[in-house]
Amino acid sequence: MAPTTQIPRNQWYVAAYGDEIGASLFARTICGEPVMFFRDAGGTVSALADRCVHRRFPLSKSNRDGDKIVCGYHGFTYDKTGACVAVPGQTRIPRTARVKPYPVHEQDSLVWIWIGDAEPSPVSSIPRAPWLAADGGYTTLRALAPLKARHSLLLDNLMDLSHETYLHGGYIGTPEVAETPITTEVDEEAGIIRVSRHMDDAECPPFYAKSTGIDGRITRWQDIEYFPPCLYTLHSRIAPAGVLPPASGPDSDAFHVEITYALTPETETSTHDFWMVSRDFGHGDAGMDSFFSQMQAEVVQQDVDALNLLEELIAADGEAYQELSINIDTGALAARRLIKKLNEAA
Ligand code: FES
Ligand SMILES: [Fe+2]
Repeated sequence: MAPTTQIPRNQWYVAAYGDEIGASLFARTICGEPVMFFRDAGGTVSALADRCVHRRFPLSKSNRDGDKIVCGYHGFTYDKTGACVAVPGQTRIPRTARVKPYPVHEQDSLVWIWIGDAEPSPVSSIPRAPWLAADGGYTTLRALAPLKARHSLLLDNLMDLSHETYLHGGYIGTPEVAETPITTEVDEEAGIIRVSRHMDDAECPPFYAKSTGIDGRITRWQDIEYFPPCLYTLHSRIAPAGVLPPASGPDSDAFHVEITYALTPETETSTHDFWMVSRDFGHGDAGMDSFFSQMQAEVVQQDVDALNLLEELIAADGEAYQELSINIDTGALAARRLIKKLNEAA
């Protein structure tokens, strides 16, 4: 059965981490579209449809000649705007010889791509994650988990963190996460969903006990900000129990971890699960780096395994299923509603 998920078009999506794209030709499927990326001599990322207009050969399997791409099959040559500038055996270049160029914007160490045929919305509308920038004052570990499940399943998962208690027990989950009610706020105007869970006297999960060295109970805040459809941020504040942020000035008695996800559909039923974990402590501590990346990779894998299973069940059972939602699902339901709105507008 054909999936009925809808990927919002005419949107900016994260296509890659900036450091994934260099001089070599790089391929990635975004929202079902095969795209080829490269960094030109000036350091700017360009993106073109990854199919030669002649006989469809992937340009990502071709060669660069300076900032030109020479098809690896018969040599059609394109400039970085996708215009064909040479064909073999004749001087006349067919008028339709052009591959689609994609608008691209790089900021905060992420490469964004515009998917859709409408004029791109201004790059100033792309959400920011300044802690990911090289000079952002945070140490970031990151990876990309291939997920064989649709965008909406990952979104459900991230918008409701009560699953931490059950799916991630022994890592980041403690009883208080599931027990503490959330507040959900939808800023329709700005298109942002905020879900907060403030635990004022909570058990310190092993992940944070080991990394912060806090001995005993903690004040643990989780403040999600989701910018549909792609960028998800979780501002996590960990402090000894009772230590709240000062009325003004830096919150230096607390530890801050920014957990960022970019949820980019690969196809209707698979997703690029970009995850980044940034901390404002333990800079230059290689042991802590490997601890953070290993723990987070294991947590992400627990989600990936669960969501892959759900996608398999959708394929096996069909999509019709009467879900039952409760208070913990408020954020996810709000997110689905905004995604639906984006789909209707596209
Ligand atoms: S397929 Fe590219 S030149 Fe023939
Ligand atoms: Fe999770």
